[in-house]
Amino acid sequence: MKILAINSSHRGDKGYTRFLIDKLFKGASASGADCEVVTLADLKINRCLSCGTCNTKDHWRKCVYDGKDDVRSVFDKMAEADIIVFATPVYIFNMTGLLKTFLDRMYVTGDAFALKLTKSGLLFHDIPDWGSKPFVALICCDNVEKETPKNVISWFRTWSKFNDAPMVGLLVRNAGRFSGQGKDPEAAKRAPKLGEVYQAFETAGHELAVSGRIRKSTQKKASQNIVPVPPLFHILKHLRPVKRKMVEKARQMSSYKEGDV
Ligand SMILES: Cc1cc2nc3c(=O)[nH]c(=O)nc-3n(C[C@H](O)[C@H](O)[C@H](O)COP(=O)(O)O)c2cc1C
Repeated sequence: MKILAINSSHRGDKGYTRFLIDKLFKGASASGADCEVVTLADLKINRCLSCGTCNTKDHWRKCVYDGKDDVRSVFDKMAEADIIVFATPVYIFNMTGLLKTFLDRMYVTGDAFALKLTKSGLLFHDIPDWGSKPFVALICCDNVEKETPKNVISWFRTWSKFNDAPMVGLLVRNAGRFSGQGKDPEAAKRAPKLGEVYQAFETAGHELAVSGRIRKSTQKKASQNIVPVPPLFHILKHLRPVKRKMVEKARQMSSYKEGDV
């Protein structure tokens, strides 16, 4: 089982996204998977010019950047992998610019004129076989609200449908600052659930290696809220004074200081 993670954090290997990938891969490699991380921030990735050259007869499916940047080499790795982990922090309620820029370049790999129906009955066009690889969406962010990663999750669901690519896992880690983004040894004192969360990431890796998908219960554990909430908060949070008090507490408890990362 070959698992390829595409780390799209602009911090590259120094970020929380990489920390989470490493947890996942700890479990996966212990269970025999061959794991590799591609760090987009370390690569040269030009943005698609929408020049249409790849749709012309003489340059069919060839990009003007072929041989001039690193995009094709990542496509090759995707084609070799059994499972792809798209790992992205949330940037302004979306995936990172780096991931989007990279994925835009996939335009060259399809045939926009060859229409077909997807398994779910959507009209789409021809894409390469490796565009339909099973994938995991690994998303992290600083905010605690479920609303924050919503667009990114929705994007991956759309990708899954149009590409006939099974989403074999969804791991969402919010409250990154609260948890010290994997860098604060004191974080577990503030968030006792953090140990269980990271253990669930390792279990997720094990499940991917063994069965090719992450169990729903593991996804739930890995993605659980780690900020302790008072009883009945799900009802009381709609009352402004209660919410304000929570914000104040969150400010005090957040481990992030300028220069930490
Ligand atoms: C440009 C930018 C935009 C961001 N936008 C959001 C956001 O909309 N919501 C949020 O919760 N966190 C946001 N963040 C915080 C990151 O998602 C968070 O710090 C994440 O853990 C970073 O992962 P990394 O350390 O791997 O880069 C943003 C960070 C940056 C740099």
